[in-house]
Amino acid sequence: MTFPKLVKIVEVSPRDGLQNEATPIPTDIKVEFINQLSDTGLKVIEATSFVSPKWIPQLADNTEVFQRIKKKSDVSYPVLVPNKKGLEAAIAAGVKEIAVFTTPSEQFSQKNTNCSVVESIDRITEIIYDAKNYDLRVRGYISCVIACPYEGNMAPEKVTALARILRKLGCYEISLGDTIGVGTPRPVRLLLDNVMGEIPVEQLAVHFHDTYGQALANIYAALEMGVATIDSSVAGLGGCPYAKGASGNVATEDVIYMLNGMNIKTGVDFAKLVAVGNFISKQLGRESRSKVAKALG
Ligand code: HMG
Ligand code: MG
Repeated sequence: MTFPKLVKIVEVSPRDGLQNEATPIPTDIKVEFINQLSDTGLKVIEATSFVSPKWIPQLADNTEVFQRIKKKSDVSYPVLVPNKKGLEAAIAAGVKEIAVFTTPSEQFSQKNTNCSVVESIDRITEIIYDAKNYDLRVRGYISCVIACPYEGNMAPEKVTALARILRKLGCYEISLGDTIGVGTPRPVRLLLDNVMGEIPVEQLAVHFHDTYGQALANIYAALEMGVATIDSSVAGLGGCPYAKGASGNVATEDVIYMLNGMNIKTGVDFAKLVAVGNFISKQLGRESRSKVAKALG
């Protein structure tokens, strides 16, 4: 077993978390939330997405949020971009890093982005071509890497093929998303084994939703294989409105608690992080989904 000594957390709550909230969240709260996250030692905070407001009305205030947050020089604030229109708006807002997304599932691709998998790669190709002219860093997501709510299990080879394309197009990192949280350590290992045949582990991240309570076990399996970048979300916020049955991401508090116990460094101040998770849960008027936050009261 060769666990990494240092893990990078990619905090996705302002985007993956807030995109799935039924009640509208005031822009002021989003700004305050991201500013508090910036003070915890997190180095990557996905701030919002520049997708169609008809599809994700919760993040329609993307430009205002991005422009108003206090940006720390040692923190990056990527945003999700689905097409050229989103890229142009992100550039106008002053974004320095974007994340693009695709999936091996035809049906999920249609439901989430109204296009086929091949068309999604065409869009990404266009986005990255333009993004390079602005020196933007590009991260790539692959969704439904274990299974899709509409098509069932996904073959690891299909995920690897997409990862190869994203890397070739210029994504510096590829995040493997178990969008509906159905994975368990065995299929996760089989998937990583396959993907790592093509992509260096340093360029891989894992993105587990915790729908079936398997996320920490899956993260442990990924750590054992050397993965050192983990996407997570304070208070376990998260979910994709276009993936039936998708619920929250693994809670960052729970991930940090486990990593601290394993003596793996993250640079994140645990107490501050728990306080931010409690802050946003209070604003949303509900209990945190983080087991650790609940245990701490
Ligand atoms: P479409 O309806 O086919 O797009 O949607 P369109 O090009 O026909 O345009 C329709 C309208 O939207 C037009 O406005 C466009 O201008 C506008 P109208 O003329 O009707 O007034 N529009 C936009 N407005 C603002 N920003 C834009 C934009 N694009 C078009 N970027 C589209 C296609 C891709 C836009 C749409 O399907 C979409 O936005 N989908 C995003 C859905 C989404 O955000 N899902 C969640 C994120 S993915 C996720 O959560 C998974 C992840 O976490 C990893 C994991 O867990 O696996 C990343
Ligand atoms: Mg997600």
